[in-house]
Amino acid sequence: MSDAIANPLIESVAADQEFWEARAKMAPFSSGYTDPSVEQLEWNAIQRAIRTYAAGHSDPSVLEIGCHVGYTTKKLHELMQPSHYDALDISPGSVEMARHYSERHGYREVNFLTASATAIPLEEAACDLLFSIRCIQNIQSADGQADAFAEASRLLKPGGLAVLVENREEELGRLNRLREAADLDPIGQPRHTRFLVWSELSEQVSRDFEVVETNFFASAYYFGTRFAKWLNPAEEATELNSPHNLFYREMIQGSFRLALGPALIVLRKRANKGVR
Ligand SMILES: C[S@@+](CC[C@H](N)C(=O)[O-])C[C@H]1O[C@@H](n2cnc3c(N)ncnc32)[C@H](O)[C@@H]1O
Repeated sequence: MSDAIANPLIESVAADQEFWEARAKMAPFSSGYTDPSVEQLEWNAIQRAIRTYAAGHSDPSVLEIGCHVGYTTKKLHELMQPSHYDALDISPGSVEMARHYSERHGYREVNFLTASATAIPLEEAACDLLFSIRCIQNIQSADGQADAFAEASRLLKPGGLAVLVENREEELGRLNRLREAADLDPIGQPRHTRFLVWSELSEQVSRDFEVVETNFFASAYYFGTRFAKWLNPAEEATELNSPHNLFYREMIQGSFRLALGPALIVLRKRANKGVR
């Protein structure tokens, strides 16, 4: 398959492709997280979701959207060792790097392709498990994000699972309301992201999927590091490994009742779409 995206349907994401392409050229083999604690909490949550929900799928067919240079691909592939794994990214440069790293790190079985999550060149019901680890939040429009969910629904077999890690506008808004009350500046979204607005998506999602779990796996950590820490002038605000940060990282995130930070969302494709 050619690595150039020719489909006119996805012209709208061409600017996104250009941005990610430029980043791919300087990408090390990493997730790109600047905060290693969030990365660790994210991976703990993903592993737990796979153990809890994917056990029923023996040798699942896996699709990963937004694989970047294949860092999450390597970890997911090692964990599940599926005999069929497709991983795609909108950036040809990322896909090229992902292929290179897969040779180097010994998981050559993955089928990497350049495609947009909004128009995936695979057959209907091609997979049992679909992963989006911070991919859909990078699609710049509400319509594009809705298209990505429609594609996830088309590509999953009935009963198949989508495991998503995405930031949502709702949790960022909640955090910023806390910060505003304490006279702290709002936290913005990283460049080139559009955090999911769940109220826009929930009707479409509940038509096509059962929401099995929504886990705010870094809630306490976000409370501690993006709010409480800033109320304590003695804290070194930029120190990622400070005792304060580590204390909040080690808290049981799921027992923290205020939903903050990224969400791990597990969706099960309905057997009869449209029947609730
Ligand atoms: C934040 S990175 C996440 C990478 C990877 N999942 C990880 O955790 O290491 C987001 C990735 O999504 C890709 N991306 C952005 N828009 C996309 C789209 N419409 N379709 C497919 N991939 C897209 C980018 O090229 C980038 O590699």
